[in-house]
Amino acid sequence: MDADSGSGEQQLLAEQVNYYRAVADEYLDGKLDEPGGDELAVAVAKFAPAGDVLELASGPGTWTPQLLRRADTVTAVDSSREMQALAKQRVAPDLARARFVQADLFAWEPDRRYDGVFMGFWISHVPWGRFAEFWALVDRSLRPGGQVLFVDDAHRTEQELIHGEASTTIQRRLRDGTPHRAVKVPHTPDGLEQELTSLGWNVRVHQTAGPFYWGIGTRRP
Ligand SMILES: C[S@@+](CC[C@H](N)C(=O)[O-])C[C@H]1O[C@@H](n2cnc3c(N)ncnc32)[C@H](O)[C@@H]1O
Repeated sequence: MDADSGSGEQQLLAEQVNYYRAVADEYLDGKLDEPGGDELAVAVAKFAPAGDVLELASGPGTWTPQLLRRADTVTAVDSSREMQALAKQRVAPDLARARFVQADLFAWEPDRRYDGVFMGFWISHVPWGRFAEFWALVDRSLRPGGQVLFVDDAHRTEQELIHGEASTTIQRRLRDGTPHRAVKVPHTPDGLEQELTSLGWNVRVHQTAGPFYWGIGTRRP
């Protein structure tokens, strides 16, 4: 794990926000086509907290319609208004039960607690230096006993690893070739479980047949 700390990390996170704003229109075409994706869909379909669900880094609404099938309401937080415009189209039939909040998750505070928290392809974008702080935010967002579910992958291409395998800073390019830096932490299920245990969570992380993993659990009482 490399430490890109202080203002360097702040800058990197700002670049990550800008990358996802710029890539919004291309994002759904770039879906990782690898084995195991269907296991994530099953995990999300089974995630059924009654009541109100918080979706962090909701993006173009990849998972929001599925969450709305079970939840009473979904509050979807993302920094990109471009992504949220796409998400609103995807949830159109259920728009009345969805609330969209455009915010930076490293500065946002929830105004209530939720019955469940979901994160799709987000935790790998949280730098190690913000990991504990971010999970404290998840804790503040969740009612006691509420469940958290995340799905993600540890996939990084050779071309992305501009600072080498050991770095968690990658570079991605838009279709027109414009480069953007982002964070991609190659979590392993065991490593994640250990980190989350040390932060007071009971989370089980499952590796799929491919590069994807998913984790589900609760905060220890
Ligand atoms: C890999 S995408 C995941 C989108 C969606 N959850 C999915 O599974 O397809 C990461 C999302 O995080 C959002 N994001 C990046 N930095 C953020 C930040 N600091 N605060 C809030 N959202 C952020 C991006 O706009 C993008 O929609």
